[in-house]
Amino acid sequence: MVLLVPTLKWIIFFALFIFSGNALLLYLLLLFYCFDPLDPTGNISVTFDIYQRTDNGYLARVTLQNYHQYRHVEKPGWKLGWKWAKNEVIWSMSGAIATDRGNCSSYSGSQMPHSCKNDPIIVDLSPEVSENRSEHCCRGGLLSAWSIDPFNAFSSFELEVRNVGDNPLGQAPNNLTLMAPGPGYTCSPLLDTDPSVSSDFGGLRQVPVLRTWKSTCAYSSFLANTLPVCCVSLSSFYNPIVTSCRDCSCGCREADKSTASCIRPDSLSRSNEDNTIEIVECTDHMCPVRVHWHFKNNYMNQWRVKLTISNYNYNKNYSNWNLLVQHPGFTQKTSAYSFNSTKLPTLGIQDGVSLFWGIDYYNNELLHSDKAKVGVVTTEILLDKDPNSFTISNGWAFPRRIYFNGDNCEMPLPDRFPMLPNRSSTLAPTSCGFILLFILLFLPLLLL
Ligand SMILES: *[C@@H]1O[C@H](CO)[C@@H](O)[C@H](O)[C@H]1NC(C)=O
Ligand SMILES: *[C@@H]1O[C@H](CO)[C@@H](O)[C@H](O)[C@H]1NC(C)=O
Ligand SMILES: *[C@@H]1O[C@H](CO)[C@@H](O)[C@H](O)[C@H]1NC(C)=O
Ligand SMILES: *[C@@H]1O[C@H](CO)[C@@H](O)[C@H](O)[C@H]1NC(C)=O
Ligand SMILES: *[C@@H]1O[C@H](CO)[C@@H](O)[C@H](O)[C@H]1NC(C)=O
Ligand SMILES: *[C@@H]1O[C@H](CO)[C@@H](O)[C@H](O)[C@H]1NC(C)=O
Ligand SMILES: *[C@@H]1O[C@H](CO)[C@@H](O)[C@H](O)[C@H]1NC(C)=O
Repeated sequence: MVLLVPTLKWIIFFALFIFSGNALLLYLLLLFYCFDPLDPTGNISVTFDIYQRTDNGYLARVTLQNYHQYRHVEKPGWKLGWKWAKNEVIWSMSGAIATDRGNCSSYSGSQMPHSCKNDPIIVDLSPEVSENRSEHCCRGGLLSAWSIDPFNAFSSFELEVRNVGDNPLGQAPNNLTLMAPGPGYTCSPLLDTDPSVSSDFGGLRQVPVLRTWKSTCAYSSFLANTLPVCCVSLSSFYNPIVTSCRDCSCGCREADKSTASCIRPDSLSRSNEDNTIEIVECTDHMCPVRVHWHFKNNYMNQWRVKLTISNYNYNKNYSNWNLLVQHPGFTQKTSAYSFNSTKLPTLGIQDGVSLFWGIDYYNNELLHSDKAKVGVVTTEILLDKDPNSFTISNGWAFPRRIYFNGDNCEMPLPDRFPMLPNRSSTLAPTSCGFILLFILLFLPLLLL
């Protein structure tokens, strides 16, 4: 449904809005449309494969697979939780650990269970751990984005479950929860599916597991309920005025008060050695990250853009950052000089969508700022022109939508886009923010 042509989508949206009068439906609809049109099927799947029965339980392998094209799981990593259906205990575990042993006082043998908790929370081991590893384990809880590094987009751990009750293959746990690393994910119940199959003897023999349960966890920025982390500023070769980020794009917290929410470079002291709280430089936009798009050159058959990402955090590095840009120009051939990039499929969107990320050991880490300078990574991008669509007027040359690490970056308002000398019309990029504003204005009326 997300793939409907935009106008049809709007007609349906407003028809439902006008005729339904149902605030809940509207809210669901809003949630639905604000999921992510550029990655509609993005999810993290959790697969529970029971591959062997034991005397009073089973051995299982749990795999987390990140199918998001450009949303990764970053430090401090994922946490997976569930609620056992019966009185199961995790007898042992490799490739991960349960954070709490729980009350194992009813076990008196020489070996104690790994965790007796009814609702265990599992965390990944760090890559340096040498004991109790399992295959594809121990990534410190990090999962790469699927489009960038599919091999590191999944992670597995193994566990022995005992005390499973009458059914030797157990009963699926309930209430799966995933923090990755913060809130925002909602997981479906673990359901029986076709058993996962692995191959043996170099692919000659198929070996299905005994039983497979599967859940998919979907991300919603509404549930994550975080402030925006990023804003966009624009400039062009033909207009000396820089369109800066909108003031307070990322919320103006008690800005200039004495709270540690933002800090001026000159007052930066040794005391921020405490790396646990994020400290952001005081700016008009208050965003931890700013993306600047500069339309640099207009050649006969090509045009050039300089893209710069700045990190205004004083104690946060963004490892393996990524940047997604939606722009009609990306339907043509493009080359980025200092970033890796790939084009993503764009079902139902006429613009091109390019995903950029850093080059290993060169700029895949967006370093924090310090007193002397802001942490930046930058590249120039050369784009071929499509003579039928290319224009330097109407704000066409500026991006329609930008995501940093999967989070929407706040765009300047269209009437602030850099203008051609003596022209004033600009093109309005559509965004979810607009619908949101609209709904926020009207929802209270509907709830009356
Ligand atoms: C999860 O992602 C996979 C891979 O893109 C897709 O096949 C599957 O349909 C998605 N599941 C849901 C519930 O969206
Ligand atoms: C490895 O696993 C065994 C069995 O679960 C456990 O006894 C041992 O303490 C674990 N070692 C480490 C370093 O966690
Ligand atoms: C642990 O469980 C036992 C029963 O299995 C109970 O008697 C005991 O009070 C529990 N201990 C705690 C600290 O909850
Ligand atoms: C756990 O899931 C059950 C349904 O399986 C539900 O009734 C219950 O409210 C959930 N508990 C929590 C704490 O979410
Ligand atoms: C950020 O990276 C730099 C260089 O690798 C390192 O010195 C610094 O400790 C890192 N800061 C944090 C907060 O991780
Ligand atoms: C990024 O590009 C470099 C050089 O083009 C290449 O060696 C590297 O494998 C790429 N990284 C990824 C994650 O694709
Ligand atoms: C715009 O046009 C006016 C006359 O209409 C002229 O005076 C002015 O210099 C022009 N501005 C620019 C930036 O070219």
